Amino acid sequence: MENHAQINPDQNAAQAVPLVEMKDISISFGGIHAVDKASCDLYPGEVVGLLGHNGAGKSTLIKILSGAYTRDSGAIYVDGKEATITNPRHAKEYGIETIYQTLALADNVDAAANLYLGRELLTRWGTLDDAAMEAETRKVMNRLNPNFTRFKDPVKQLSGGQRQSVAIARAIHFNARILIMDEPTAALGPQETEQVGQLIHQLKADGIGIFLISHDIHDVFDLADRVVVMKNGAVVGAARTSDVSKDEVLGMIILGKCPPGATPGPGALQE
Ligand SMILES: Nc1ncnc2c1ncn2[C@@H]1O[C@H](COP(=O)(O)OP(=O)(O)OP(=O)(O)O)[C@@H](O)[C@H]1O
Ligand SMILES: [Mg+2]
Repeated sequence: MENHAQINPDQNAAQAVPLVEMKDISISFGGIHAVDKASCDLYPGEVVGLLGHNGAGKSTLIKILSGAYTRDSGAIYVDGKEATITNPRHAKEYGIETIYQTLALADNVDAAANLYLGRELLTRWGTLDDAAMEAETRKVMNRLNPNFTRFKDPVKQLSGGQRQSVAIARAIHFNARILIMDEPTAALGPQETEQVGQLIHQLKADGIGIFLISHDIHDVFDLADRVVVMKNGAVVGAARTSDVSKDEVLGMIILGKCPPGATPGPGALQE
């Protein structure tokens, strides 16, 4: 194994500053509280699963972090300092990258062209430096997904999992430290889902923090170090996956019931 600093989230929770902390975030559309005083955080090398039913507010909360929406109230801290994020460019400056379900790849060109889309490398004659872009892409992909060999193919010919690797490579190549993946495996088969799981392990080992969003607990429970459950825009609770069972997390998602192993949020059912 290479000498990657494997970061232990337990240790971090006691000592380090979170990569991101979202505090008391609210946003309404019309009269609807899409997100209501939601708080969550993320440490280096940690995967936090953001769970909840359709319409719970997961995507909206994460769009506030990625700068797609501006919150009505609440604060965002990056590395312990308050961050101004009111558009997607701000988020990128803070090292926050989002991979949407659609992946937003350019289908007719290869992996390297996708990695460098809009930030192409040029030769000193001002022409596209395809050789340099491919060499750099091979380096990134080798680290992320050593099985990937289809550097010459347009990405539309790749499998869902391979396309996902290209999208992740593009995000991390430009120094993302905080990766948001919204329903990353929703459109994938079991084998491709497994491949995305392996990518996530690699990113963790590199110290990248990941918010993994899903309405399906099975997609995230095994990959996540912690889960944060939302219901009706509010956080029901947060828990280490080692402290709760899948059934208990289902109870959080469906009933808003916070089990003993979880820390209740403002959306927890009062008994
Ligand atoms: N731009 C918008 N305008 C009006 N209402 C919105 C907007 N975006 C989200 N909402 C509402 O906010 C609530 C939360 O939606 P959100 O998309 O965040 O849910 P979600 O947890 O991501 O659900 P899913 O699992 O279906 O993706 C919903 O009631 C939704 O209708
Ligand atoms: Mg969503």
